[in-house]
Amino acid sequence: MKVIAGTSSPLLAKRISEALNVPMAKTIFRRFPDGELYVRIEDMCERAVIVQSITSNDDLVALMLMLDALDGVDTIAVIPYMGYARQDKKFNEGEAISIRAVARMIESYAEAVVTVNIHSKDAASYFKKLVEVDAMPIIGEFYSKRDVVMVSPDLGSYERVKVCAEHAGCEFDYLEKKRIDAERVEIKPKSLDVRGKDVVIVDDIISTGGTMVEATKMLLQAGAKSVECACVHAVLAGNALNKLYSAGVKEVVATDTIERGVSVISVAKAIAEVLEKYL
Ligand code: R5P
Repeated sequence: MKVIAGTSSPLLAKRISEALNVPMAKTIFRRFPDGELYVRIEDMCERAVIVQSITSNDDLVALMLMLDALDGVDTIAVIPYMGYARQDKKFNEGEAISIRAVARMIESYAEAVVTVNIHSKDAASYFKKLVEVDAMPIIGEFYSKRDVVMVSPDLGSYERVKVCAEHAGCEFDYLEKKRIDAERVEIKPKSLDVRGKDVVIVDDIISTGGTMVEATKMLLQAGAKSVECACVHAVLAGNALNKLYSAGVKEVVATDTIERGVSVISVAKAIAEVLEKYL
C-alpha cells in the first residue's frame, strides 16, 4: 500500500503515512497553458490511499484525475474536508445537490471513503461507503489543560461541542443563531454567564467568519475575559481571519483537514486508526 498526497493535503498525507508506516508514492501535478490539470502517479501499487481535501474546484478535479490514474487499483479516498457538502439538498427548484454529484464521482472509483466531520447527516446520506472521523474529542484534548468554557455558536453544533467539552473537561453552552443572509448572522445569548471567563467558541467550519464574529462580539459584550475560536475545518474564505482578529478574537485554532497557518491540531492519528483496518 502507498499513500498518495493530493495537491491540497501534502502535510496531512505525510503525517498519515508516518502514522501507518506506509510509504508515499511519487506523483506529478502540472497545469497546462490553458489551465487544465495533469496528474501522473509514478510508482503504482496494488493498494492506495489518496489524501485530498476538497477546498476548491481544482482540488476536486485533481482528486478525480488521481482516482482515474489509479483505475484498477484498490483505492481508499481520504477526503479530510468534504467541500460541496453544504449544498446537501435542493433549497430551490432546479438546483443541483452538489454533494450527491461529488459522492457519485468518488464512489464510482473508490473502495471506501474516509472523511472528518462532514457538514450534515443529509450530506453523508449520499455516500454508500463513507466512514466519518469525529475531530471533536481531539480538539477537546487540546484544551484539556486549560481553564476554559466552550460555546457552540448554534443549536446545530450543540452535540458536537458537548463531545468536545467532555474531552476538555469543561462547561459548555450554546448560542441562538439567526441567519439574515449568506454573509450575516445575528446571535442572541441563551443562558450563559461568561463574565470573567476564557471562552472557546467551537464549530465545524469557519468559512466567511460571520458566525464567529457575531458570537465573539456578543460574548465580549457579555463580559467574557477572552474569546478564542476553534474549528475542524479552517475554510477561511476571503479575509475571514482578519475579520476574526479585528472583532477581538484572541486566537484561532483548527485541525489540519485544511492546511492553514492556524491548523495546529492533527487528525492524522485518528484517520490512520480507521485506515489500519484496510492494511
Ligand atoms: C453552519 O451550519 C456551520 O456549522 C458553520 O457555522 C458555518 O458554516 C460557518 O460559516 P461562516 O463562517 O461563513 O459564518
